[in-house]
Amino acid sequence: MGNSIIEPHREDFPLLMSLDAAYLDNAATSQKPYCVIDAERDFYKRLNSNPLRSFYDLSISATDSYENSRENVRKFINAKSTKEIVFTNNATSSINLVAYSYGLSNVKKGDRIVVAISEHHSNMLPWQMVAQTTGAELEYMKCDSAGVYSDEEIYRCITPNTKIVAVAVISNVTGSKAPIEKIISTAHANNAVVMLDGAQSVPHTKTDVQQLDADFLAFSAHKMLGPMGVGVLYGKEDLLEKMPPFLRGGEMIESVRLDRATFAELPHKFEAGTVNAAGVFALSSAIDYYNNVGIDNMERREQYLTNYAYQKLSKIPHVNVIGSSDPYNHSGILSFTIDNVHPHDVSAVLNQDNICIRAGHHCAQPFLAHLGIRSSSRASLMFYNTEEEIDKFVQSVASVRKLMGYGD
Ligand SMILES: Cc1ncc(COP(=O)(O)O)c(C=O)c1O
Repeated sequence: MGNSIIEPHREDFPLLMSLDAAYLDNAATSQKPYCVIDAERDFYKRLNSNPLRSFYDLSISATDSYENSRENVRKFINAKSTKEIVFTNNATSSINLVAYSYGLSNVKKGDRIVVAISEHHSNMLPWQMVAQTTGAELEYMKCDSAGVYSDEEIYRCITPNTKIVAVAVISNVTGSKAPIEKIISTAHANNAVVMLDGAQSVPHTKTDVQQLDADFLAFSAHKMLGPMGVGVLYGKEDLLEKMPPFLRGGEMIESVRLDRATFAELPHKFEAGTVNAAGVFALSSAIDYYNNVGIDNMERREQYLTNYAYQKLSKIPHVNVIGSSDPYNHSGILSFTIDNVHPHDVSAVLNQDNICIRAGHHCAQPFLAHLGIRSSSRASLMFYNTEEEIDKFVQSVASVRKLMGYGD
């Protein structure tokens, strides 16, 4: 394949083939290929039974499909062991698991929790809760207007009393990549652990948790061609081993007495109740799709499209693209404002032109306030988007101010 740009593979995505609109809201959720939709159906048609519980053949097959999917996820992010892969509902529930389980039992008054200011509320509110419950100090690590975190700021925030650092690998507002290698090494030098939010990175760029020396990584299946309702928590085995269960109930136990219980081995200790086996099976199919097309090939096409869109969007008068001036540090995400036009109006105009983008605070109100804005419009790309869709988008954005009654 070399360095050539792959085709968009649109024929693999039924909704893209039938939708009379340009779908540019991929950071919210991605579209699903046939193989993922078929896998979910296939589970219910061929394997449906409650996995991990029973000893009849059908249930054993359901268990096998569930555990083989876990192995597929393990390989995808290069975790050491399947014990380190916990299935949850979404990235939000993965982060809450770490906050309630690791956070509440390892953080005390006088400790510090560091949260990057650019975090999605999902990797901020759980840490506010831990700080409020334990009396720990909450410190926000601040980036500049391009979304860049300096070494000085990292060293200022991560101190010897820091226990947890929460940071997204890629921001859902600016698309810029945080210096996670530096943040992780600084945290480890201070005996702190790092909660990486991979919701916007795992779908778009190769992730190797061993190479990163990651402690915890959360991501959602639905943003990476998989189904809604499935999330993943990666955690280092020795950390997960020492953590108490988050949710308690069926299938996460070893034995139960009237007054106490002992808990199942990893990772089942963290998977209480009936699991989303069909969704996990479909996530595994999404990973097969990534492996077939090649995540590096997808990333190269997304970088190409981002640059193509950035060059055009940033030249439209009165349009301000948020974040880095380097189009290759946007990971498919282009948030922007238009002078004197509310982002909801931008989105409404684009909707009239059959273009789907997000408008609002992107679940990152403190970050937008830090950047001095209340809301923005956001186009977010995936490898299946096309130059034609971007041309349509740019043309529509360029028409907005005139439609709102401005002369230029
Ligand atoms: C950076 C980031 N973190 C976390 C989330 C939350 O993902 P989910 O709603 O799937 O839990 C999102 C979703 O947009 C996100 O962009």
